[in-house]
Amino acid sequence: MPSAAASLVEQVRQRVLVITRMASESQHHGLVFFHSREVTSFRRMDTTPAFATLRIVSHPLVQHKLTLLRDRSTPTKIFKELVDEIATLIAYEATSELTLEPAPVDTPLERTTGRRVSGKKLTLVPILRAGLGMVEGVARLVPAARVGHIGLYRDHDTLEPVDYYFKVPGDAAERDFFLLDPMLATGGSAAAAVASLKRAGASRIRFLCLVAAPAGVRRLAEAHPDVVVYCAALDRELNEQGYILPGLGDAGDRLFGTR
Ligand code: PRP
Ligand code: URA
Repeated sequence: MPSAAASLVEQVRQRVLVITRMASESQHHGLVFFHSREVTSFRRMDTTPAFATLRIVSHPLVQHKLTLLRDRSTPTKIFKELVDEIATLIAYEATSELTLEPAPVDTPLERTTGRRVSGKKLTLVPILRAGLGMVEGVARLVPAARVGHIGLYRDHDTLEPVDYYFKVPGDAAERDFFLLDPMLATGGSAAAAVASLKRAGASRIRFLCLVAAPAGVRRLAEAHPDVVVYCAALDRELNEQGYILPGLGDAGDRLFGTR
């Protein structure tokens, strides 16, 4: 066998081994498959046929930090730092599908062609309040990003979102948006925020959260099947008050110490 072909066979064998190992470690036995991007990148991101729009970032550091975040005894200062750190790690995954274009560059030695992210500056849009805790963590990777804001709160009785603020860059149609909110519970807030962004002209929207509930992922996918959701965990269910179980409690209150 020619050496190039032998090397290719070895690479394929390695990939099969990695995929087999990832599948055996998965918490969703029988459900998990790895979509094509993971096969090529070897990233530890799971998705399931039941939640086709969902990407779970199962990187060990994300899972470790999430466990600290869930802990009821974690104080506000640490909670804030953990949200920030997990947001950075999730953003690393969520930026991996941004498109690149060739970019000429003069090194100290010669001119070459590199690559840069194409299009206008990425726009981060936190859903107030709790989404604010993720902005700096994401912006660490994309410091030139623009930042819009969407103000929404859940009515305590109906659990439906009530909107009170909206501001994003005027040229929304030309930008990629990262909508930020730690919690995707009933999905009402996320679906309303995406609808507002689309009314403003946005068409390329990704939703970054920390903890998602099955009902929220389903509701967002039904209303906006084009929006991919990145999260650290898909939790079990909602309780009667619309809180995620096991969850981490009220993200806004824990972030800002308003409990
Ligand atoms: C929380 C959270 C989401 C929303 C999720 O915000 O930050 O925005 O609930 O719930 P849903 O998926 O059922 O809509 P909350 O309404 O408590 O407002 P706050 O951030 O101002 O505390
Ligand atoms: N909002 C939160 O902050 N936590 C939940 O569990 C659900 C909605």
